[in-house]
Amino acid sequence: MAGLGVASTQILPSVSKLPYIKIAAAADVRQEALAKFHKEYDAEVFTSFEEMCKSPNVDFVYIATPNELHARHVIAAAGHGKHAIVEKPMAMTLEECEAMNRAAEQNGTKLLCGHTHSFDPPIRKIREIVQSGELGGLRMIHSWNYNEFMYRPRMKHELAMSRGVVLNQGPHQVDVVRLIGGGMVKSIRAATGIWDPRRPHEGSYVCYLEFENGVPATLIYSGYGFFDTAELFEWVGEGGQPRDPATNAKVRKRLSGITDAEEEELLKEQMRYGGRREGEFSHEWQGERHQPFFGFTLVSCDKGDIRQSPDGLIVYGEEGRREVTLPPGSRGREAEVEELYQAVSNNRPVFHDGRWGEATLEVCLAILESAKEKKEIFLSHQRPVA
Ligand SMILES: NC(=O)c1ccc[n+]([C@@H]2O[C@H](COP(=O)([O-])OP(=O)(O)OC[C@H]3O[C@@H](n4cnc5c(N)ncnc54)[C@H](O)[C@@H]3O)[C@@H](O)[C@H]2O)c1
Repeated sequence: MAGLGVASTQILPSVSKLPYIKIAAAADVRQEALAKFHKEYDAEVFTSFEEMCKSPNVDFVYIATPNELHARHVIAAAGHGKHAIVEKPMAMTLEECEAMNRAAEQNGTKLLCGHTHSFDPPIRKIREIVQSGELGGLRMIHSWNYNEFMYRPRMKHELAMSRGVVLNQGPHQVDVVRLIGGGMVKSIRAATGIWDPRRPHEGSYVCYLEFENGVPATLIYSGYGFFDTAELFEWVGEGGQPRDPATNAKVRKRLSGITDAEEEELLKEQMRYGGRREGEFSHEWQGERHQPFFGFTLVSCDKGDIRQSPDGLIVYGEEGRREVTLPPGSRGREAEVEELYQAVSNNRPVFHDGRWGEATLEVCLAILESAKEKKEIFLSHQRPVA
């Protein structure tokens, strides 16, 4: 595990329970977190990522370090023959993606671009229905997500490094839409919004895209914490856990009570692995759990529409409306690790590989470019769904 930050509190609890996984080591620069990790997992700990990659006990690394380190860490892992899952955004630029892919390809290691909601069972099922042709041809895709992303506590440069929601939340939404639409985006037109001078980074976007086959899609995101898409979805949260209807207002209020960047950093620090509020931002939930939910996804085909429901999908066809209930299935981080494990152990393909991740980042970067240039951007690094 590289990076024992907030993301690791979402990754470790579910991944460590998988029968074929042994948590062997961690790298971080925070000694207290490493000490706790060593005790909890009886595992090796390192203050250097590169040193961890030298350990013979490590087969693959889950990279959840800050965005600007992803490229360096993936390349180092590949250089030591270690497979890797890298958190979103895969990297900061397409040049970095190219170097990461080259490193994995040259060293024969697997690279999986993780944590996106395209792994969710309902999204995979929508893709399956679309691909089966049972509803005829795909006609359009819409995805809306509204939440309080902009007001979650952050380190000082974090929102700048993720361009607000675009490089952090964009990969989820772009991956979902690309998976359903087949992967090959032709062009993008987008506008981004910076509405709050206290958070001077992109907190919203509207994106219109077209696939090569002419299918259009819209992707809409607001992280400003007023309306909440979960309201349309029986208050199911991102991980399938219940979401408190007051979340947006509470998170906004908590941040408005914070006076400076140091205080905000301290709050984030407390939410990391080993912190006083560890797990507060985890999607782990022991009670009744529904399917994970990343906003409202509505897909239209010649003979019907499909949308997500709390426990699966609703298909609106020529005979009316029917619900497709899905088993919990493996999701999120478990699904990613399963995909990597199957690739390494059973030579199965990695669907969300580095080339897929590069194509998703290209769309996200094009959202920023289109918004800046106020014009349609044509893409050249797209990959079809494997
Ligand atoms: N916060 C979330 O809910 C969340 C969810 C999904 C994905 N992510 C992604 O995970 C990544 C990390 O986000 P986060 O919120 O956990 O950030 P964070 O700042 O809480 O965690 C980053 C961790 O990396 C460590 N680190 C810094 N430099 C390092 C180095 N050179 N070697 C090893 N460790 C180092 C830090 O000490 C910290 O523990 C980002 O790419 C983010 O987009 C975050």
